[in-house]
Amino acid sequence: MTAPLRASEPIIVPVALGARAYEIVIGRGQLATLGARIKVLRAAAKCVVVTDVNVAQKHLAACQDALAAAGIESSAIVVPEGEGSKSYATFETVCEAIIAARIERGDLVVALGGGVIGDLAGFAAASVRRGLDFVQVPTTLLAQVDSSVGGKTGINSRHGKNLVGAFHQPILVVADTALLDTLPEREFRAGYAEVAKYGLLGDAEFFAWLEANWQGVFAGGKSSGVLAREHAIAVCCRGKAAIVARDERETGDRALLNLGHTFGHALEAGCGFSGRLLHGEAVALGIVLAFEFSARRGLIGDAEAGRALAHLAAAGLPTHLKEVAGCVPGIDALMDLIAQDKKVKRGKLTFILVRGIGQAFVENDVSAAEVRAFLADKLNQK
Ligand code: NAD
Ligand code: GLY
Repeated sequence: MTAPLRASEPIIVPVALGARAYEIVIGRGQLATLGARIKVLRAAAKCVVVTDVNVAQKHLAACQDALAAAGIESSAIVVPEGEGSKSYATFETVCEAIIAARIERGDLVVALGGGVIGDLAGFAAASVRRGLDFVQVPTTLLAQVDSSVGGKTGINSRHGKNLVGAFHQPILVVADTALLDTLPEREFRAGYAEVAKYGLLGDAEFFAWLEANWQGVFAGGKSSGVLAREHAIAVCCRGKAAIVARDERETGDRALLNLGHTFGHALEAGCGFSGRLLHGEAVALGIVLAFEFSARRGLIGDAEAGRALAHLAAAGLPTHLKEVAGCVPGIDALMDLIAQDKKVKRGKLTFILVRGIGQAFVENDVSAAEVRAFLADKLNQK
């Protein structure tokens, strides 16, 4: 994460959603182009930037400067950092502040931050005045490859994650890869779980590329002749854009993006959405569990499950329950959390399972007893 700050020609990934189509702009230094890009899309808009305290300290001034350079007036709303801000209380604060800032239809909300800010600000944009346009400026690796694209916005309920929200597509995503230089290494690593996810769910060739080049993605700069970080982000965004374009509302294929998330969300919730286990770390553990569960069902060999685990472990991600700081919830608590997850339909559990590296599929008919027996064995291995 020490590559020099320099502008690069952006990679543009289109998201083909008809009247709601937009572009993802990926490259170093692209934040400086934000105002000019917005001016083309909404010539008369003023902006309110929603961000968190950490990102405000590092990147808010540059963001507002980029808007001012294009003659765009902006104000800012700064919320506490962390998952706790995906709450009713912070949602109310943000909505009221957007209204107080006199943001009208035709103006824009700019979400400057990681997945927490994108989800929160996007939901506020979807709700205030029955829908304001918004722009995503993702500042974490996780947000650049996943959460800023596809229009899922929302907050958490006391019953579980992301249970209150809306589909609301941004009109533009600007992913400046230089912003990742200030991201704490643990956060970058956690986001890498979502990068690996794209290879593991549908792109075996990309997964093999990651196995050879993941260090280049972490370092920035060139690897195998391409700018590794930008290349990886673009491949993930193309993969997500293709899935979202064919299943915007998750009635089918989009669920593939949840590989590792059913187990992962339960572990994340069981750890109290705390620094004990970051979202991406929970996803890494969840992916390993999904591969091992698939192996137990005879869908793949142990070697394939081992390959997924080995790569995530090489990148420094947790791959065994014993690596979770403090105690992992017991089997009853984990099964309760899985049952509360929104991927449960009429008592049957839905899991994303695999028939190989890059061959994920949706299995709607998994019995709770089978999952309980599997997880009990995993917990006993601790
Ligand atoms: P986050 O937004 O909490 O950011 C992680 C930490 O990094 C925070 O402390 C933040 O202040 C800090 N930070 C962010 N950018 C920084 C930068 N450039 N420099 C320094 N510090 C920086 O976490 P996240 O991992 O980006 O997102 C996780 C959230 O995303 C979860 O709530 C998850 O549910 C959600 N998510 C949503 C989708 C979706 O499709 N909407 C997809 C995946 C995940
Ligand atoms: N991250 C899951 C989705 O966007 O559908």
